[in-house]
Amino acid sequence: DKGPYPHFMLKEIHEQPESLARLLREVIDIESGALKDIVPTVDFRGADRIVMVACGTAHYATHVAKYWIERFARIPVEIEIASEFRYRPRVHGKHEIAIFVSQSGETADTLAALKDVQGHVTKTLAVVNVPTSTMARDADAVLTIEAGPEIGVASTKAFTGQMLALLALALKAGCDRGVVAPEMLSALVDDLVTLPRLVSETLALSGDIDQIARNLVQSEHVLFLGRGIQYPIACEAALKFKEITYVHADGYAAGELKHGPIALVDDAMPVVVFDGADALTEKTASNAAEVVARGARMVRIGASVEVCVAGVRTPASSEVVEPFVNAVVLQLLAYQAALAKGTNVDQPRNLAKSVTVE
Ligand code: M6R
Repeated sequence: DKGPYPHFMLKEIHEQPESLARLLREVIDIESGALKDIVPTVDFRGADRIVMVACGTAHYATHVAKYWIERFARIPVEIEIASEFRYRPRVHGKHEIAIFVSQSGETADTLAALKDVQGHVTKTLAVVNVPTSTMARDADAVLTIEAGPEIGVASTKAFTGQMLALLALALKAGCDRGVVAPEMLSALVDDLVTLPRLVSETLALSGDIDQIARNLVQSEHVLFLGRGIQYPIACEAALKFKEITYVHADGYAAGELKHGPIALVDDAMPVVVFDGADALTEKTASNAAEVVARGARMVRIGASVEVCVAGVRTPASSEVVEPFVNAVVLQLLAYQAALAKGTNVDQPRNLAKSVTVE
């Protein structure tokens, strides 16, 4: 049931304050601010490597989480798309934890990759939305993202749920390994508690986003850029955009632009830049200046975007919350662009909700 919404995708985008609040309650004891023992059978203390395997949007969630796990738990992380991972001769770590991320828990390549590593890694962990899925059954341990049924083919609330579940794992691993001190954890928990509210505030920016979406969809190509943790956000933006608008879109690390893609930039190429409120802001700004100098129509998304610039000024948030805020912007951007174009939002051509064949 779509309720008052014209599409499941829009309904699911709007469910995020609630789905994230629900997951927060599963992973954190909000009263005391303590992390719950979310995966009691997974011991991160002796882990020498984490590998995360997924497809599509779930892969971009693992890419975001790589930054968190390396930062908060100081464990090296490898991320890979399942269809490549399973056919690569791989050297397993001695104490390696393999995490498989999937909304459906039924994606053929991710499932096959899980089966392939069994017996070669210390532990397998499935991060899924469907608790009764094959992946949940096959893995040694399971963490569910509590997003509720996701019907729209374009994954939205599952993406933010996957990010939050993986962030909780990063913090859990960081605490167990003594990297995250109690004061640091309590500051991060304070930030996380603001997440549902900030996501709601971002949903209210729909009017600003609509205007930009209408402009973008006039173009044949769109380039999305970000640095650091905003880089996978840019990639997810491009995936969502091409998936439902059929406009060619590419997600790039902003610093990589001058190594090739800048050749594409002219006044017919809109460039959307995700500005993070982190140490890379200045560098992203200088990459943005390079595309403007080549005549690109630039759109900036971030909390410090000046009102006079074409863009979306997002609510000020902390570093760990910002990827969620930007995720909501990219989802609305793709949704509204698809509406303007008149494509089938919930059931884009050639796509299935769950890819159960190789
Ligand atoms: O069910 P899964 O999370 O394993 O699905 C993975 C991808 O097929 C999925 O995320 C796909 O990329 C979405 N349609 C993207 O919106």
